[in-house]
Amino acid sequence: MNGLRNGAIVGFGNVAANGHLPVWRERRDFRIVAVADAAPDRRALAESLIPGVRTYASHDDLLRNERLDFVDIATPPAGHAPAILAAARAGVHVLCEKPLTTSLDEYRGVRSAVRHAGIVLHTVHNWKYSEAFLTVRQLLAEGSVGRLHTIAFDTARDGCSSSTSDNWRVQAAVAGGGILVDHGWHTFYLLLGLAEEQPSRVRATLARRRFVDAEVEDTAVCHVEFPSLAAEIRLTWAATERRTRWRLVGDDGELVIDDDHVLLEGKAARPLKRLTTALSAGSHHPEWFDGVVESFRSELDEPGLRGTNQVEAEWCLLLLNLAYASGARDSLPMEVPALSDCFDGSAQT
Ligand SMILES: NC(=O)c1ccc[n+]([C@@H]2O[C@H](COP(=O)([O-])OP(=O)(O)OC[C@H]3O[C@@H](n4cnc5c(N)ncnc54)[C@H](O)[C@@H]3O)[C@@H](O)[C@H]2O)c1
Repeated sequence: MNGLRNGAIVGFGNVAANGHLPVWRERRDFRIVAVADAAPDRRALAESLIPGVRTYASHDDLLRNERLDFVDIATPPAGHAPAILAAARAGVHVLCEKPLTTSLDEYRGVRSAVRHAGIVLHTVHNWKYSEAFLTVRQLLAEGSVGRLHTIAFDTARDGCSSSTSDNWRVQAAVAGGGILVDHGWHTFYLLLGLAEEQPSRVRATLARRRFVDAEVEDTAVCHVEFPSLAAEIRLTWAATERRTRWRLVGDDGELVIDDDHVLLEGKAARPLKRLTTALSAGSHHPEWFDGVVESFRSELDEPGLRGTNQVEAEWCLLLLNLAYASGARDSLPMEVPALSDCFDGSAQT
């Protein structure tokens, strides 16, 4: 460890207060000394929760007045790129909530600023550290279903998560998209981690089933093909229940995570275990955030690891954009280009 690192949270909304702060408080190697939030009530909440914290109305005021090692950006998506660019100008490392950005062009600007500044840019890919995903990885490594060939991720929600400010999740200019941005981003990096191959083709169908007047989709079905594996992602905010179900099919069986149930199906069908927390429980997941901080810390401490998470985020961004392009063209299959063709070489600094 390289000593105590001082940081600030930019955007002290629901996920920052309920998902990030509880973990920052427990860490001995990181300390939150300041908060920037546009809303006075959120700044007041930060002052009541974090003894001695200094608060600011904007990231510019924050960066002008504080000497920081890092910022933790948790504004709605449209605020991510401006805050990252400002942090890069100040030479401050960045941990940023997903989606890193939603526009390829905006990301290219971010990427070049981050490279130029030599800072770490790390996106919160917290579902990787969920008990469910760690369990799946372990069971697959033990050969429980043999060679994996099909993955189905199903996320059903009765509406979208609440936000502290007006419902930005259904505003295209703030959210950058609908449920595909909000949940799809998570499923993309989980999928990439399981496939361990580069995706080859993407096809998506988008719909507005409940929020018919919204600017963004509330339902999405997305197919991602890999050389030796096919995945189907089904997402909706138009369900009457809250449920998350994963199905992983291999040559020798089928593994199912149905909220807190882990089941083996096929010839040797049996329940395997119950998870401590259901996959669909809660929206802020403080129990998964320590894994994110540990991954951020390792990129800070070990220059050889830098850029690993950023490449993962680049794949998510690319898949997201291809899925929207397919959805806009009657589900036309989109070939996935090489990452280097989109972003001009590796993200490593
Ligand atoms: N990884 C996860 O599991 C997870 C879960 C929930 C949310 N998120 C992500 O976290 C981010 C925030 O989501 P949320 O649910 O906490 O939203 P929220 O609406 O509850 O909070 C956003 C906060 O940002 C503040 N804000 C807005 N614009 C700002 C700006 N320009 N400068 C400073 N502050 C600003 C708002 O006042 C508000 O307090 C989003 O990107 C979302 O996708 C991730």
